[in-house]
Amino acid sequence: MKKENAILKQLLNRKSIRSFTGEHVSDEDLELIFKAAQRCPTSINGQQISLVYTRDKEKIKKIAKLAGGQPQIESADVFVTFVIDFNRTAYAAASIGKTQVIHKSAEGIIVGITDAGIMLSSLQSAAESLGYGTTAIGGIRANIKELIELLELPLLTFPVAGSTIGVPSYEAKNAPLKPRVPLESFVFEDIYDDKKIKVGVEQYEEDLKKFRDDNHMDYLNSYKEQTAGFYENIYFRQIAKYFEEQGFSFKDK
Ligand SMILES: Cc1cc2nc3c(=O)[nH]c(=O)nc-3n(C[C@H](O)[C@H](O)[C@H](O)COP(=O)(O)O)c2cc1C
Repeated sequence: MKKENAILKQLLNRKSIRSFTGEHVSDEDLELIFKAAQRCPTSINGQQISLVYTRDKEKIKKIAKLAGGQPQIESADVFVTFVIDFNRTAYAAASIGKTQVIHKSAEGIIVGITDAGIMLSSLQSAAESLGYGTTAIGGIRANIKELIELLELPLLTFPVAGSTIGVPSYEAKNAPLKPRVPLESFVFEDIYDDKKIKVGVEQYEEDLKKFRDDNHMDYLNSYKEQTAGFYENIYFRQIAKYFEEQGFSFKDK
């Protein structure tokens, strides 16, 4: 018998939602979503993440534009930005006469990005459990300086990604799930298997093309086209520069 509970059912059926009805996310629901996000684990309990959200239509429009022109963001009711926040921990250290240096290390940046990613996923799951739809938005890094200014982010903070929240349109809610690479080429017992990776990519190339054809999604690239199209370029080129301007550095010492 298949073991399926409400949480698994939700996780096994999750998908990005890019079309919203425009209906409101209630304040009460939003608070619950934020409380659930805040329950996430954080490295050393540093709680080095802050969220900056907006319901302001004009601001959401600006974010949609800054994110490289993503019209689906505009139809969301709420936009949340996940911010690495070593400003909080620097204050804590300074208040007892100590100096924080972790933000000037590769380790510190990995800590912040990991914590932000965990929190983004929890926030989205909480929102979905209440019937809302979400999409993670890495596009906020396309014009990072303008976003930092828009959100008035101080030194030792950095916006990593965002998430839309809204009421999904009927079509988006009922859209098919995008397939994934075969499970055996994604999860390995004991040791990594490069051969399975390659077999999995070839299989997935076929699976995703079939998915595209079956669902008349002509706009969807194949996996190889999609990943090569992005990764043959460094598509956001000012990340290191603005990390530095915000007081971070990606170094071991
Ligand atoms: C960190 C991160 C950033 C993303 N950025 C964007 C984005 O800027 N715009 C967008 O439409 N989708 C974005 N996505 C969503 C992915 O495109 C999506 O998860 C992927 O195509 C798989 O589709 P699914 O989530 O519907 O299964 C992002 C996802 C992640 C995890």
